[in-house]
Amino acid sequence: MRARCLFVGTVLLGSAGFWWISESPSFESLRAGVAGSLAEAPRADFAEAARENRSTEPHLAIDGDIRSNDSTISRAEPELLEIAVEPSTSVSQSAADVEPTTSTTPCMEPSLPPALSDADAASLRAAVKKMTKKWGYEEAEKNFKPFKGLRFLDIGMGQGPMGVVAMEAGVQSYWGLDPALCINKPARTRNRRIGRTPSEGECKQLLGPTCKTTCAQYQRCMTAAAEKYGTFPVTGVQIMQAFPGKVILLPGTFETIQPTGLIKRGDFDAAGMFMVSEHLPDNRLVVEGVFQWTKPGQLFYIKHHNYYGFDGHHQELKDPSAFDPKNAAHRGVAFWNHLEPSSWIFNSSDMNRIRLGDLMALVHVYFECAWRANIDLKWAKALDDRPELLQSLERRGFAHAELLVNKWAGSCQRREEALDAPWLASRMWFHPPSNGSYSPRPFPKEFSLKNLECGHSLKKHKQYPLDGILYSPPGRGHRLAKYLSAGPSCP
Ligand SMILES: *[C@@H]1O[C@H](CO)[C@@H](O)[C@H](O)[C@H]1NC(C)=O
Ligand SMILES: *[C@@H]1O[C@H](CO)[C@@H](O)[C@H](O)[C@H]1NC(C)=O
Ligand SMILES: *[C@@H]1O[C@H](CO)[C@@H](O)[C@H](O)[C@H]1NC(C)=O
Ligand SMILES: *[C@@H]1O[C@H](CO)[C@@H](O)[C@H](O)[C@H]1NC(C)=O
Repeated sequence: MRARCLFVGTVLLGSAGFWWISESPSFESLRAGVAGSLAEAPRADFAEAARENRSTEPHLAIDGDIRSNDSTISRAEPELLEIAVEPSTSVSQSAADVEPTTSTTPCMEPSLPPALSDADAASLRAAVKKMTKKWGYEEAEKNFKPFKGLRFLDIGMGQGPMGVVAMEAGVQSYWGLDPALCINKPARTRNRRIGRTPSEGECKQLLGPTCKTTCAQYQRCMTAAAEKYGTFPVTGVQIMQAFPGKVILLPGTFETIQPTGLIKRGDFDAAGMFMVSEHLPDNRLVVEGVFQWTKPGQLFYIKHHNYYGFDGHHQELKDPSAFDPKNAAHRGVAFWNHLEPSSWIFNSSDMNRIRLGDLMALVHVYFECAWRANIDLKWAKALDDRPELLQSLERRGFAHAELLVNKWAGSCQRREEALDAPWLASRMWFHPPSNGSYSPRPFPKEFSLKNLECGHSLKKHKQYPLDGILYSPPGRGHRLAKYLSAGPSCP
């Protein structure tokens, strides 16, 4: 059973190695090199806001009752089963030689699969596209649209469906790199058609003297938590066969992939990390790895979900007005409670709690970026209404704006040489203290609520009124900013 972002691995390039994880046994075991299992892309929340529909969400309440019961889940199930049988004939034939029959079959080394006939590839392509759509992945197309016509390297891409999405968005060719990828087995991945379900962490809030792990509410919750992950009935090998020479899924790390020659430094026009950075134990090593993997002038796109925003915990509560005091999971996170060490989510190894100032400063050392920070106006109001809370958070070194940013996206160009940054050594990339003893790098001076892009006028975003701060570096700003397409749209 998996929570949201299962993703474990190392990426190493020369002496600069980097780890990334999300839901995992523990940071320590990762450090010791214990790899996790099959994973879904660490971008589970990608487009979650757009998809969310509270009226159908399972709900977690303090007395252990999931108010809207599992009917949400079972509604989606027939569709799933239907998908699972659909592609069987044409697909399994072609990939029979690589598709394992048991789960103990080892994952294949990175390689290109045998080519199919044009006709077989075309019918496989149709089946794969259809299934990707049925699993709700087309929602992610907008993220690739700006990279139409480009060769794209997706770092931490998950199990393959994103390659199909990228093709649909018109990306010229797509390399997906992910150490947790197993290309010859149908992947356990998230069905994006299934709306929000509780996480395992949320379910655990139900446990207490009257509800042990055997209690029905807890078990229902855990079942619901598991339901959104299913076996995507197409293997990575099949995805590659469906898009011959265009989608290449690379199971491994920079270090392990490099010797294969399947991709070389700078073979692509753009490298990207979509919602990966909030899960990595050491973003410095990752960003430095990307720097070494790219050539000067190349494009690097990064989209980050900020833990310190109201919903940074990736949990259910995103709208302050939806706070339910009877909901145990809510109580642990609402109104910035997730910044307290006592919060159930605070120590989760799934979230690194990297400070946004540190991340922006880190990326700036290696890349010059146009960027956009999305600000949630409902969160701003929630904080305005609680001046004492704001003061106490500010005393602990949190900047007002840092508490309001939902996502930060950078569209960047690799520098010829890294900037001098002796301060890098003193940064904490994983679980920095939140008691005021740690000072992150300050936001760039352009990061000011005065620079809100559209003013406080985005009323048409009903669920998530978003505003944004947009920054473009002088000179090439326009060229870079065009890749930041997924920001708030101004009226
Ligand atoms: C939420 O779900 C209900 C029932 O499935 C549907 O009628 C409604 O249109 C949905 N609302 C949104 C905003 O998607
Ligand atoms: C739970 O689902 C069943 C159908 O599976 C339905 O009859 C029942 O009313 C639901 N209960 C709640 C609280 O939604
Ligand atoms: C999280 O870690 C901190 C620091 O180690 C500790 O004080 C706190 O009790 C932990 N919180 C939980 C909920 O376990
Ligand atoms: C803050 O937390 C850190 C790490 O948990 C600890 O080392 C430090 O002593 C704390 N500082 C204060 C002022 O409480």
